[in-house]
Amino acid sequence: MASLAKARTMTSPIAFRHLPHPRPTAPATRDAALADPGFGKIFSDHMISIEFTRGRGWHSATLGPREPIALDPACAVLHYAQEIFEGLKAYRLADGGTALFRPKANAARFNRSAARLAMPEMPEDTFVEAIRQLVLADAEWFPPVEGGSLYLRPFMFASETFLGVRPSNEYRFLVIASPAGNYFKSGAPAVSIWVSQDYTRAASGGTGAAKCGGNYAASLVPQAEAIARGHDQVVFLDAAERKWIEELGGMNLFFVFADGTMLTPPLGGTILPGITRDSLIALARDEGLEVREERYSLDQWRDDSASGKLTETFACGTAAVVTAVGRVAGQDGEFTVGSGGPGQVTSKLRQRLVAIQRGEAPDPHGWVTRLS
Ligand SMILES: Cc1ncc(COP(=O)(O)O)c(C=O)c1O
Repeated sequence: MASLAKARTMTSPIAFRHLPHPRPTAPATRDAALADPGFGKIFSDHMISIEFTRGRGWHSATLGPREPIALDPACAVLHYAQEIFEGLKAYRLADGGTALFRPKANAARFNRSAARLAMPEMPEDTFVEAIRQLVLADAEWFPPVEGGSLYLRPFMFASETFLGVRPSNEYRFLVIASPAGNYFKSGAPAVSIWVSQDYTRAASGGTGAAKCGGNYAASLVPQAEAIARGHDQVVFLDAAERKWIEELGGMNLFFVFADGTMLTPPLGGTILPGITRDSLIALARDEGLEVREERYSLDQWRDDSASGKLTETFACGTAAVVTAVGRVAGQDGEFTVGSGGPGQVTSKLRQRLVAIQRGEAPDPHGWVTRLS
């Protein structure tokens, strides 16, 4: 591991080679796609690629056309899933400029994921610079729809052609951009959640706090089960006692009580430390609300919903921002949370966060990084 540690401390102010797209998408085709982008379906013209070779560090940084990548069938990532990723959005500001929301927090989480997956870290400045260059190159790809943004997907994978089980000696870091509208197909005011009692997402000591592809592969069967039963998302319980609420397949959860306090499950290594979660804790505290990071059980959730002690539940994440949870179902039946639709605290926090992200409200925590 000595050489890996060395790789982690290497910082390289990398210069990006620019290879403009020889045949960029025709404006009429692009505008038609941007009118109804959905989520994760369409992609901009360019991508960032940076390579890592042990002993040499990060090199060959390129902003070039988005294109297929050729991999040897023995490429390490195809066998042992040494892969991590991030997700963040660029926003079109009220004054026509563009900005990122807390990109350094994504860079820091990316490097924590890298450390857990025995991968080299990416200097934070290079991570942010790569994203900046892509957004500026593809600035025509912001969808003009309500709630639209340019979703950025930085990721890194083991690219060495080698079948031994050990950390790869070569990696590729890529960033692609996907114009995004609403995450949930229905644009639903409140989502319905299925409690997975047969499957868990992460156990203590595992990779639950890392944003690695394998976590999501393991969530597909329970997520499909949720959809098959008519729900939008799956919620996972802890792996040890199958009792405590952890998070959804791709979002963190908050609970709002009638006494005005809020609760969110603590970061204990099994859930993803969401940047939206962290931002909402800060915004709620700015409003004078008490926010506890404490365990909360499925039984308590059901009982408190029935008694009226719990008034709202919402899920949060970069993709869907803040989304009310209206209905919860599991093997033991189902219950409704609050009114079944978005409550006042959910709506207010969502509004505050979105206004900061879009430059429509003051940014007291310095979260917005302006690009243009
Ligand atoms: C499992 C999981 N939890 C929570 C989140 C929310 O994280 P963030 O707010 O940083 O998008 C995500 C999305 O990235 C996720 O995949």
